[in-house]
Amino acid sequence: MKIQSIKDTEVDEKLDLELRHLLSTCFIKAGDEIFKIRRFYKEPPAHRWYIRAEDGRLIAHTALHEKMVETAQQKIPIGGIAEVCVHPEFRGHGFVRSLLKAVHNWLSMNHVPFAVLFGNPKVYTSSGYFSVSNLHLQKKSEDGDLLWEPKLAMVCRLSDKNWPEEVVYLQGPDF
Ligand SMILES: CC(C)(COP(=O)(O)OP(=O)(O)OC[C@H]1O[C@@H](n2cnc3c(N)ncnc32)[C@H](O)[C@@H]1OP(=O)(O)O)[C@@H](O)C(=O)NCCC(=O)NCCS
Repeated sequence: MKIQSIKDTEVDEKLDLELRHLLSTCFIKAGDEIFKIRRFYKEPPAHRWYIRAEDGRLIAHTALHEKMVETAQQKIPIGGIAEVCVHPEFRGHGFVRSLLKAVHNWLSMNHVPFAVLFGNPKVYTSSGYFSVSNLHLQKKSEDGDLLWEPKLAMVCRLSDKNWPEEVVYLQGPDF
């Protein structure tokens, strides 16, 4: 099946409706109702990859955020993978692996050395992801102070660069 990609800013009304329909069908925990009214959870992604069935139905999707992480020594561009989903009728056919392969090719071509996501390791290990525990995100404390806290993440290495061993900071929301 053909994989298509689009910049989120180029999504038209019809595709917006299809995306919200697929996301609302796949994401059903409390809070996910947000997908009924908008096609992103926390912030709009830069790009999307998707697959249609023979009959034209949108059946698989992933979003990509263009982000930077920082260590004490360096800034590193990353691709933030989000809203990975496959329509229930089409699961178990490897569509996640196919979509991520296409995203990884695009990131490599654009010299982005890592894809990062927050998800179930059982789903992503076969696509080349490994767990990391040194990624830190900003959180507001009860007193309103901003604190850095570690959050388990998964990383896929897309070049010969190694994921840093020191603390890695990601500004802004997770994805
Ligand atoms: C998670 C989801 C995208 C997987 O779709 P899928 O069509 O089964 O994915 P694939 O066929 O490409 O499978 C990819 C891997 O995920 C594994 N997998 C799929 N669903 C799984 C589940 N619920 N629990 C554990 N592993 C799962 C598969 O076994 C496969 O692993 P393998 O390559 O080592 O054999 C789909 O179930 C979905 O849309 N769920 C709701 C949305 C969601 O929760 N998305 C985020 C997931 S972190």
